[in-house]
Order: sequence, then C-alpha cells, then structure tokens
Amino acid sequence: MRINKYIASCGVASRRKAEELILNKKVKVNGKIVEELSLQIDENNDVVEVDGVKISTSENTVYILLNKPEGYITTVKDQFDRPSVIDILSSVSERVYPVGRLDYETSGLLLLTNDGDLTYKLTHPKHEIDKTYVARVKGKLTEEEISNFRQGLYIEDYKTAPAKLRVIKYDNVQDVSMLEIKIHEGKNRQVRKMCKAINHPVLRLKRVALGKINLNDLKIGEYRHLTNEELNYLKNI
Ligand code: URA
Repeated sequence: MRINKYIASCGVASRRKAEELILNKKVKVNGKIVEELSLQIDENNDVVEVDGVKISTSENTVYILLNKPEGYITTVKDQFDRPSVIDILSSVSERVYPVGRLDYETSGLLLLTNDGDLTYKLTHPKHEIDKTYVARVKGKLTEEEISNFRQGLYIEDYKTAPAKLRVIKYDNVQDVSMLEIKIHEGKNRQVRKMCKAINHPVLRLKRVALGKINLNDLKIGEYRHLTNEELNYLKNI
C-alpha cells in the first residue's frame, strides 16, 4: 500500500496531510525518514512512525468529543513538551487523532477519531462544514468592519471565503466585544487572523459547534463518545 494511504487508514491524517507530513520529514519507515511520496509499504511487516510515534491500523473506530481546555496542543507532541489533548483521554485505549486543530490557547469542541476517512471528509474544503466560535475581541466593531468580515478578508495573501459574524454583546466598561463567528475553512489561526485584519484582536477563543454538533453541557476538560445520531449526521454530510 502507498505510504500516504496507509497513514490515512491508521486515522493519523488525511492522505493529503499525510503527504505534507512526509515532505516535512515526520514519517519514518523501519527507522529511516521517508523521502519518497510514492513509497509502498508492507502493512504487516514495516514499522511506520509519525512524529516518533508508531502507528498501526486499528480495528475499533472511536469518535470522541472533547471540550478542550486552553493550554493544550492538539498534536501528539511538540518541541516545547507542552501538554497534549491526548494526555486528557486517559480512558481511551485506541490511538485517536484530532480532526483539524485548535490552537494551544483556544478552548472548546474538538473531535478525535481513528477513522481516517471521516477525518479526510470533514477536513476537506469541499464539504464546507461550519465551525462556530465565540470570540472575545478588543473594541467595538463598526458596521463597515462587520461587513468586511462577512464578505471575506485577506489574511496574508489568502482571501477567506465569506463568513458569518454576529455581535453577541459589547461591554463598554472593558471595551470588549463578544462575537459569534462561523467559518467553514480551516486555515491556520484563521479566526484570530480575520479578527486582527479588522483591527479587533482576539483575547479569548472557544469553538462551540461543528456543524450541528455542539458541546451542550460537556464541561471543560471532559469528553464523551459521539452518539449514533451525531455520527450518522457527520457521515452523511
Ligand atoms: N481559528 C483560530 O484562529 N484558532 C483556532 O484554534 C481555531 C480557529
């Protein structure tokens, strides 16, 4: 099997992301860094590692919804040895991977699974699943800023797709606004960059929903399995 397909079948990343991992020299086969995107592997005998962690195809597919606290990374490990969301999932024996990512400082809804096909589908731009965030930002937004945000903005050299924005409230004592933002793209730090682009930097950010799935009463740092209904909904998107 081709290496990127194998990585996806282990639930680690989509095939596309697997190629990025290979190009970033994060993948080893039998102890050697993979240089060839087209490398074929023998699933039964080769030892494949991603970011130093051995991976394998898992029989049991699990779907976990976590209310991520601030101060956790969503990758398995990083160069600063910061705590990872994986550390929170003490009762989950399967090796699961986040669907998309949340920044270290962002809290809220994070889906983790070992179902590579679902990860691929949900992170593919064509499915356009809405992600809903509540952002606390500096200052009060003008109508023009709101309209610019909704139409899509340039962040670095990328023009974002139209987004939804609703002002929940403005606190004039602290001069901060609470915003509800819905985007369907997943560029790195996209909400933070979009808010910065209209000169209202994010002070705190929480993801509250993924499509129709929301946190409900799941407390910060807690997790649960998706219900059948939620899973069917995601699989049929
Ligand atoms: N946008 C961001 O800026 N950060 C996140 O964690 C998620 C979306």
